[in-house]
Amino acid sequence: MSTPRRRGKAPSERGSDLNDPPKVVKAAAIKRSASENTSRRRVLLLAALALVFTYFYLRSDPVSPTESGHGLKMPESPVTTSALYNDSDIFEVVDLPGRGKGLIAIRDIEQGERIITEKPTFVAPEQITGSPAEFVAKLLREANPADREAVLSLSYVNFPKDLDPETNPDEVALAIFQTNAVAITNGVGIFPRMARLNHGCSSAFNAVYTWREKEGVLVVHALKKINKGEEILTTYTNTRQPRDDRRKMMEENYGFTCNCSVCALPGSESEASDKRLVAISETYDRFAAWGPKNITGREAIEIARTIWRIEDEEGYLSERGRLAADVAYVAAAHCDATATRQWAELSVEWYGYELGRDSEQVREMANVAVKPQSHPGWGSREKLEVGGPML
Ligand SMILES: *[C@@H]1O[C@H](CO)[C@@H](O)[C@H](O)[C@H]1NC(C)=O
Ligand SMILES: *[C@@H]1O[C@H](CO)[C@@H](O)[C@H](O)[C@H]1NC(C)=O
Ligand SMILES: *[C@@H]1O[C@H](CO)[C@@H](O)[C@H](O)[C@H]1NC(C)=O
Repeated sequence: MSTPRRRGKAPSERGSDLNDPPKVVKAAAIKRSASENTSRRRVLLLAALALVFTYFYLRSDPVSPTESGHGLKMPESPVTTSALYNDSDIFEVVDLPGRGKGLIAIRDIEQGERIITEKPTFVAPEQITGSPAEFVAKLLREANPADREAVLSLSYVNFPKDLDPETNPDEVALAIFQTNAVAITNGVGIFPRMARLNHGCSSAFNAVYTWREKEGVLVVHALKKINKGEEILTTYTNTRQPRDDRRKMMEENYGFTCNCSVCALPGSESEASDKRLVAISETYDRFAAWGPKNITGREAIEIARTIWRIEDEEGYLSERGRLAADVAYVAAAHCDATATRQWAELSVEWYGYELGRDSEQVREMANVAVKPQSHPGWGSREKLEVGGPML
């Protein structure tokens, strides 16, 4: 078999973050769909199962190969049946020397444009009994042939060293699943089209995926404008941390050393980027102090502006819809209608890029922008003019 390559989405390493709102605002804030919270935590729930997997690896007897083998060398399949529309005019899946496969834009893609819409080939529940490898392999056998082929052509990492992939197809299926699956609302799904997206850190990723529970689809949107010829990259993990930490995490969980455009920055530029990313994280923590009333509403708004400014410097544009929505919450709590409207409008704009203009989050915040007083948090703190996004 070929060396397992990058790919991989998400074991358990996701701690708090990527999409976690300021701790405080979380509880009371406008109800967010679980989708936004869960979709980026790939395979979060498989963490618990990992022990079970290991257990089975250690004790399972070798199984006989299936007729088709694991198909690692199968050709790239075209648009699979799980992809809901033909996106072949947007990107192509190509071989990237030394880096497996990736998605290259074949035309300019506008900021906020939908790139992929995909149903899961199958979804595994959070808890299963019996052999996970057999379970996943069975689900895969039941999938339609085109989708099965697409799944089997994905790469994988962390295959047990004592097993031969050629003779252990069920374990290969499981390894592919563990490497590529995405935690959705009530289970873990596999999306072979989207799974081709490679990872970039901080300013390097330009696309974001989200699960939409109501529609039962995973959607990928362009967070930034993507030029023809550029690789479409998403992020597998929270990258608001220094390069060494990011690399270590990617190595452990996905089996590759990240050398995206941010990780490849030369010494002093890399240090400056690290500083900004750490500052963004710390500033988010300070913002969260509004919840326990450790800082005033005005201070919270000032802190949010600071986050925005550092993110501009870094080119880190993700999660801004949520940040602006959280700030709108603060403004609403203090009955500042003008500020609530302005932050809500900003939230609509950025949620629109990241989650889609037709997303639930955009709808909710658009309502707040029209009617600030309708915000569930309205008037829950003392009256105070907190200020809008502009200084
Ligand atoms: C998708 O569209 C392209 C042209 O836009 C066409 O060449 C291709 O055959 C289509 N593929 C499928 C699977 O419909
Ligand atoms: C990353 O890429 C840069 C140049 O693009 C190269 O100098 C460096 O050695 C690479 N680092 C790793 C760890 O691959
Ligand atoms: C609140 O402020 C105090 C004193 O400045 C600090 O020790 C504490 O950690 C803060 N708590 C939170 C939740 O920010």
